[in-house]
Amino acid sequence: MSEPIRVVVTGAAGQIAYSLLYIIANGEVFGKDQKLVLTLLDIPPMMGVLEGVVMELHDCAFPLLTEVIPTADPAVAFKDVSAAFLVGAMPRREGMERKDLLSANVKIFKVQGEALNNHAKKDVKVLVVGNPANTNALICSHFAPSIPKENFTAMTRLDQNRARAQIAQRLGTDISNVKNLIIWGNHSATQYPDAANGTANGKPVTDLVEASYLQSDFVTTVQKRGAAVIAARKMSSAMSAAKAAADHIRDWWHGTESGRFVSMGVVSDGSYGIPKDIVFSFPVEIKNKQWKIVQGLKLDSFARSKLDITTKELLEEKEEAMAVCNGN
Ligand SMILES: NC(=O)c1ccc[n+]([C@@H]2O[C@H](COP(=O)([O-])OP(=O)(O)OC[C@H]3O[C@@H](n4cnc5c(N)ncnc54)[C@H](O)[C@@H]3O)[C@@H](O)[C@H]2O)c1
Repeated sequence: MSEPIRVVVTGAAGQIAYSLLYIIANGEVFGKDQKLVLTLLDIPPMMGVLEGVVMELHDCAFPLLTEVIPTADPAVAFKDVSAAFLVGAMPRREGMERKDLLSANVKIFKVQGEALNNHAKKDVKVLVVGNPANTNALICSHFAPSIPKENFTAMTRLDQNRARAQIAQRLGTDISNVKNLIIWGNHSATQYPDAANGTANGKPVTDLVEASYLQSDFVTTVQKRGAAVIAARKMSSAMSAAKAAADHIRDWWHGTESGRFVSMGVVSDGSYGIPKDIVFSFPVEIKNKQWKIVQGLKLDSFARSKLDITTKELLEEKEEAMAVCNGN
């Protein structure tokens, strides 16, 4: 049994955290032999609710959980953390413009970037779940200059899991047989779910599924899946978002098997002609806790046109976010 590591979950009184905390504390992310101290950050009005979450974590009697620290103070929450699940964000309220949402969240992720910079371990692995996730991750990294940019990522794993589920259902095969579907770009309706490199039972998905479906309904179903869940449940995806967040950090921590790639929002290095310094979802492979963008994949003109749309949106978000940070 190794020494405990400290892991922070923000938005810890919210609905994604309610599913996520169980998965983490049960040893399904960092391993069954890794003891954990969990720090739980939320805002002051949520401290009562958070106390209830802490009671339940104690009552689960998790063998790996050595301590739980609820707090509204980022300096306490981020102290010496090795991994950070940044789930907490301002939700979009009725009548709220996208710009207002972005502005409110940029301020939150600026504060949390500074707190990570000042208090976290320098090799901390950061996953941003709170929306707009890609741009929030960029802002967080910007305000944490002492931590490598590669350590800040945004979640598109839920979109990848949704894409796999659609293909598995269409082919009537187990989901574990479906590999290497890619999410490119922003975690938003402009993302591009791409099956061109996907396989099912070792065969190319493009040989098994009609191109007309892959270029239309498949793309829009995955793009709009979050909205479909909200329409049905009257609340946004939570169980599936928690599972995806756990998948993302587990693979970052333990690595991916050879020949399998996963999608992560990472700071662009210019690969595939994507402008540098936006957080863009790419296919990556992971070894020794370092991700690497998979190189050399072919993009046809249809894919390229989709990448252009999502790139444009991310550049606009970056510009708006930087304007907020600079007080314009
Ligand atoms: N990337 C993805 O795939 C994905 C998927 C689903 C949801 N999301 C996003 O995840 C976020 C959380 O979703 P949820 O359903 O858990 O929402 P929720 O409203 O149930 O919970 C959010 C929690 O964050 C807290 N919070 C707000 N500001 C905070 C701050 N400054 N510091 C710490 N905590 C703060 C709130 O008090 C609340 O408890 C939302 O932004 C949602 O849009 C992302």
